[in-house]
Amino acid sequence: MTTLQFSELVAGRPVAVDVDGKPACVARVGDEVFAISNICTHSYAELSDGEIKDYKIECWLHGADFDLRTGEALTLPATEAVETFHVERVGDEVFISQKTKEN
Ligand code: FES
Repeated sequence: MTTLQFSELVAGRPVAVDVDGKPACVARVGDEVFAISNICTHSYAELSDGEIKDYKIECWLHGADFDLRTGEALTLPATEAVETFHVERVGDEVFISQKTKEN
């Protein structure tokens, strides 16, 4: 599990974090926070260097869009979804963990 401060997350400015050894991209959209794998499924690029548009993040390398809520690949050249992480906010703390069957 990784803990971040909500007040330090800037909407539209994704950050790269490590969640139990897995690279994750954390993005704030309004008052919501999402976490997906930081590695694009098309080739090797870090999504935290991409651009957020509404609930989408665009890979900076070849322009594939991913849905921050589901990880779904929305546009080519990516066809495979990225993994999503469980996000829980308690006050100013944001807990990010790997998904389990329970969450
Ligand atoms: S590496 Fe992300 S779209 Fe190609």
